[in-house]
Amino acid sequence: MTRTIYVNGRYLPYAAAVVHVEDRGFQFGDAVYEVWEVKAGALVDPSRHMARLARSLDELEIDQPMSAAAWQNVMRETVRRNRVGDGILYLQVSRGAGPRNFLFSGVKTAPTVVCLARAVDPSKQAAAAETGISVITHPEIRWGRCDIKTVMLLPASLAKQKAKQAGAQEAWFIDSDGYVLEGGSSNAWIISSADEVVTRPADHAILRGVTRMTLIDLLAEEGLKLVERPFTRAEALAAREAFITSATNLVMPVTRIDGEPIGDGRPGAMARRLRDQFHSVAEVVGLRT
Ligand code: PDD
Repeated sequence: MTRTIYVNGRYLPYAAAVVHVEDRGFQFGDAVYEVWEVKAGALVDPSRHMARLARSLDELEIDQPMSAAAWQNVMRETVRRNRVGDGILYLQVSRGAGPRNFLFSGVKTAPTVVCLARAVDPSKQAAAAETGISVITHPEIRWGRCDIKTVMLLPASLAKQKAKQAGAQEAWFIDSDGYVLEGGSSNAWIISSADEVVTRPADHAILRGVTRMTLIDLLAEEGLKLVERPFTRAEALAAREAFITSATNLVMPVTRIDGEPIGDGRPGAMARRLRDQFHSVAEVVGLRT
């Protein structure tokens, strides 16, 4: 039987059920979802799932895409068209699609709504329940692996949105010990009173920025002292200079942190020089054949 998927108001054959490549769910993980058990054609715990969906949407400030009655209709229709007796119903709502931008306050698109249902043979579950299952223990990595450049960017998106609301351009994440990790989409640096260029070591807690690596080469060429160690917010506030690095910002001076001026509140001389010199060490390869 051809499966039918609900996508943004239409019931489509499985192969034709697609969302936009610039959907924020795809690019930022900027989406929420629910999964229901379907038992003999009925939804299990619908009220509680709907309440959690509403809460999740609310937390992310995504507009509720439809009324409770409309939801009911979509879910019922999806289960009916797929002739699911026992199985699952999956529903996902993203903030919508638009040109990639961490900030979402300007996103004026309607949320993307997907609903699908799938039959699951209950006898398999029942057999497993007879024997029981095994589990393993595993370190918590949800999400302690910021060294991997994944699109799980919802926390970054939320933090950068907050920064914007505060009149800033970037948010620096602080770890539970009070140390600066990195920016929402950049690496964080300071220049200490001893003229040391300080940045956090590239461990699992931050992304090893390419710009960061190239800048480290430049520091060596310039004879500047690099110290890879964590630094606190207080240290950053007292620093001579601060800046961020990323492919989109190169070396970008930071003049204020939480509203407090860094140094004299103007871009630092060293950050400006590093920015000017950056392409002299970077690998730059022409794209023309
Ligand atoms: N972001 N840290 C984080 C969390 C980042 O997302 C980025 C880059 C960096 C800097 O990495 P690089 O120097 O390789 O650009 C550090 C890109 C620019 C983005 O998401 O738009």
